[in-house]
Amino acid sequence: MSLLELKDIKKTYLLGNSVWMKRKTVEAVKSVSLTLEEGVCLGLVGESGSGKSTLGKIILGLEKPDQGEVWFQGKNLYGLKSKELKELRRDLQVVFQDCYSAVNPRLTIREIIAEPVRNYEKLTTAQEKKKVQDLLVTVGLCPEDMYKYPHQFSGGQLQRINIARAIASKPKLIILDEAISALDVLVQVQILNLLADLKEAFQLSYLFISHDLQAVNYISDRLAVMSSGEIVEWLDDMEQLERLEHPVSKKLMSSVLPPYLGLGSGTKMIY
Ligand SMILES: Nc1ncnc2c1ncn2[C@@H]1O[C@H](COP(=O)(O)OP(=O)(O)O)[C@@H](O)[C@H]1O
Ligand SMILES: [Mg+2]
Repeated sequence: MSLLELKDIKKTYLLGNSVWMKRKTVEAVKSVSLTLEEGVCLGLVGESGSGKSTLGKIILGLEKPDQGEVWFQGKNLYGLKSKELKELRRDLQVVFQDCYSAVNPRLTIREIIAEPVRNYEKLTTAQEKKKVQDLLVTVGLCPEDMYKYPHQFSGGQLQRINIARAIASKPKLIILDEAISALDVLVQVQILNLLADLKEAFQLSYLFISHDLQAVNYISDRLAVMSSGEIVEWLDDMEQLERLEHPVSKKLMSSVLPPYLGLGSGTKMIY
């Protein structure tokens, strides 16, 4: 049984709200099926507008597909009762690109990280404090940071906090939607290394969504290339990167800087 299985997912958006004219539609996701196994990072790469985020939102239940099924841990997410869904959603977390809008600016870091924990665990105040402190250390921050507010952190630090919140409920799968794209290059590498370490330490699976093939190559075990709402090419072994054939894959490859071509997912970048 796969951890995640998408079966023939379709999603069309209606554009505009004109009463007089026929409304235009955009087929964001046309017919996507994929599987993701436990402990694997699947890179989902594609140009802007190719439907990557829509697919991520459908998995997270933030958008409803017009057609198709999302199976997670052997259960159809769109056929569950709310109690069952709440239990299962604990194992499915997300980190988005915009680290600042992902957090409530009026809450302390302690409250931000503790929030998902409170949904699933009954902890004493002392236990919760210890848990938040441990999570901060796990993502490379200081225990005292829990008393601060989001505006006191850089983008990279705040993304570490979002990652701490994502791993707080001990999930099985984290969807990372352009999670490092807004950060500067050196910070991107640090966060990628953190994600790689956490994947090993907690046997996590990732759906790593990005327009940046270089970052995807760095962290992924498998690769899916998306274009115009469809998966146009698959790679089961990142060592085969140079064998990508589809024109979109080639275009994404051409934006990868030469020294990193052909790097395996376990290879550290050198700057
Ligand atoms: N809520 C929405 N309403 C209308 N169109 C949307 C909406 N969300 C996405 N789209 C359109 O669907 C297509 C795929 O978008 P998206 O999934 O965000 O792509 P990506 O994440 O690959 O950049 C784009 O053409 C986008 O404009
Ligand atoms: Mg997107």
